[in-house]
Parts: sequence; C-alpha cells; structure tokens
Amino acid sequence: MPRTLIRNATCLLPEGPRRTDVLIENGAILAIDPPRTVQVDETVDAGGLHLLPGVIDDQVHFRDPGLTHKEDLHTGSLACAKGGVTTFLEMPNTKPTTTTRVALADKLAIAASKCVVNYGFYLGATPHNVAELQGLDAPSPGIKIFIGSSTGDLLVDEQAALERIFAETSLPICAHCEDETTVRANTARLGGGSTHADHSLIRDHQAALIATQRAVELAERHKHRFHVLHVSTADECRFLAQHRGAYVTAEACPHHLFFNVDDYARLGSLVQMNPSIKTAADNAALWEALHGGAIQVIATDHAPHTLEEKRQPYPKSPSGLPAVENSLALVLDAAHRGLCTLEQVVQWMCDAPARVWDIVNKGRIAEGYDADLVLVDLQKTATIRNEDQVTKSGWSPWHGATLTGWPVRTWVMGRTVFQDGKIDANARGQAARFDHNRGGYWAE
Ligand code: DOR
Repeated sequence: MPRTLIRNATCLLPEGPRRTDVLIENGAILAIDPPRTVQVDETVDAGGLHLLPGVIDDQVHFRDPGLTHKEDLHTGSLACAKGGVTTFLEMPNTKPTTTTRVALADKLAIAASKCVVNYGFYLGATPHNVAELQGLDAPSPGIKIFIGSSTGDLLVDEQAALERIFAETSLPICAHCEDETTVRANTARLGGGSTHADHSLIRDHQAALIATQRAVELAERHKHRFHVLHVSTADECRFLAQHRGAYVTAEACPHHLFFNVDDYARLGSLVQMNPSIKTAADNAALWEALHGGAIQVIATDHAPHTLEEKRQPYPKSPSGLPAVENSLALVLDAAHRGLCTLEQVVQWMCDAPARVWDIVNKGRIAEGYDADLVLVDLQKTATIRNEDQVTKSGWSPWHGATLTGWPVRTWVMGRTVFQDGKIDANARGQAARFDHNRGGYWAE
C-alpha cells in the first residue's frame, strides 16, 4: 500500500476544520500535519478541496443474497465508493433473511469477495430467534427489528416477542417503527389505497409515532441501547427530544428531509417509501431535530427496486428508493444552501454513526484511525442523471436535481476507490469491527 500525503486540504478534524496535510500508510492515518521532509510514494495536491472522514451509512438494503436483480453487494458498494460512503451497514431483509449466525457468516463471506468498501451486517429478529441473537462472535453492529412490516416478511409486532428480544439480548437494537395495527386499519379503511399518495395516508403520522413510542418505552425499561431508524414525523421528533440520552438515538434519511407529499404528483411511486414521506412541516421538524440533537444520524435506507417494479400501480409498486451514491452530495448541497454547516454534515454522516454502532477506528480524521476518507469539492455543481447511476437499479428519485458540493475522490483503508469519475471495481473493503463495550453514542 503506497504511503500517501494529502496536502493542503481543509481537513474536517474532530476539533474543527484546519488546512493541513494528512499522511496515510498501511490503511491508516499515520500523521496529521507531518514534517515537510516526510518521504512518500504519492502526493495529492488537495488545495481548494475539503477532506472529510468517509461517510458511514448505517442503513442500506443491498439485496444480496437472493434479490440481486435489484442490487448486489458489489454494485451497492460501487455506488458507495462514488458517493463517498466508505462503510455501510446492511439490513437483514434479503433472501434468505439474515436471521441466523450461518446466514450472517454467509453474507460476510459474500461481502469479502466483492465489496469495494467496508461493510457490516445486522442480524434480523424474528418472533422465535432470540437464541441466534445472543452471544454472537461474528462482527455485527446489532439487531434489526421490523416492528412494522416492509419489503420482505420480517415482522415482530407482538409485545411478548418484543419484550423477550429487549430483555434477553445485549447487542444494540434498531427498528423500523410503523405500527402494524394502525397500518392495517388504515389499509382497510382506504380499501387498500389506489394512488401513490394514499401510501402516506395508510402509513400515516400516527403509525410512526405509536411504534416509535412503543420501542423507546421498551428500550428505556430494559435499559437496552436502541436506535430509531428513518424518523419521518414532527411528532416523533418532539417525543425523541424528551427521550434523548442514555439509551436512545435516532436517524433521518434524505428522502424524509427533502421530499414530502407534494412530490407524489411529480414522482409517484419513485417516492413511495416505508415509512412514507410526510408533509413540508415534517421536513422542517426533522431538520430542527438534527440541529437540536434529538436526531443524531443521517443515513439513506437505500432500498433499490427496478424501475419496472416501481412502474406498477399502487399498491403493487414496491416501497423503497436508491440513495447511497448521492446522499453526501445532497447534504453538502443543503450545507451550500445554508441549511447546515459542513461540521454538522461530518457529525451526522461520519462521526455519529461510528459512535452509535461502536465502530472501531472510523468516523474521524485522527491519527491511528482507518484511512477511510473522502475529498469533496464544495464548488462543484453537477446534475443527478438516471443514466449516470451505478446502483444496479439504475435510477434516482433526484434525477434532474442540480447540486453544489460533490465527492471527487474516495479512499477505503488507504486505497483510492473513486477518482476522476472512475471507480476501482477491483478494490476490496474490510469487515468493520465493533467494540460494543464502548457503550455507544452517549458514552463519550
Ligand atoms: O421503503 C422501504 N423499503 N423501507 C424499508 O424500510 C425497507 C425497504 C426495502 O427493503 O425495500
């Protein structure tokens, strides 16, 4: 692995931005501001650019094994490299589901053979697999519960089963929070729904709030670390603001920050997601919750389906949209528009997810940390086009959007995986390591 000096970038260090040099070797950050005389194999002149820790996306669906016509671990990881995402944590609703240790080991083996960036995999909970979730020796960020059903058939909504998972396991838990009873009642009331806009009436504000409240109550009572995935409503934000600290963290996704029900007329099923997109007031509340600290993380819930699948009429059209290759650019563009600062982008997309999931040596530009880095050009303006997407699904709900602020080079464990618009498909990432004794986001 070459010894590389990245010179003159404005580096987003834990203590703040500083224009300096970063020396990387053997996959790690060897020194910040090394002596001018240091001998290197490659010098990267990064003047005018910003160096960020690589993005850690703690919620993606890469469909491998079993649904690889939509995405696979190779194509999903290529999209990550292009988007400045150096580590992803992937969800268990594949085929087979990742609900056993054997399935987890199989997924890790597939990833080792074809992932360009670093990876980790959640274990999925079922009503009957608590034994599989205990005393795990393979690396995993934690346990995923679908408290509301979504793509696939993973669902745990009975109280007794949820109590057991929270009481008898020790790995951190995250959940998809939409109340199944409410969703079913709304579905019946609306005769199943007939337009894509009905999706937000079926998976409504109440459904999200009830499930989030229920899960947070379980977490606090059982003193179990818990992360609320893809928060979508102002009501949940208010509730989370009262419950921040100790056990609970939460995340927002770009589609819930940037899209709302007004977008159904233009985009139809392309913005059909679970949880559903909500209103402009909910968009604003999510931003406020990020700023106020009730939500700590931005992740994508990258959930690719083919356009052919998406073109089906509601309710046959599947829920989910691809986002991983544009998430950093979308949030950098938000910073460009004054919605947040660059330091907050790093906080929400790099540092916080590393802390929530106890990922070892990632999420910061610091000596001894892994050389997972992304160089961004805050002046670069480009338009997202379906034809340029590397996700196997081949489209983006942001097709036609012009953004300012883009990743221009990505390093994974010290190796360049994306540069000048090209991805090194032969690079291989590594399994992320998790030290759950660190105690999560609130421990430091
Ligand atoms: O809309 C969604 N689709 N939400 C999820 O949580 C799952 C995802 C999928 O896997 O398609």
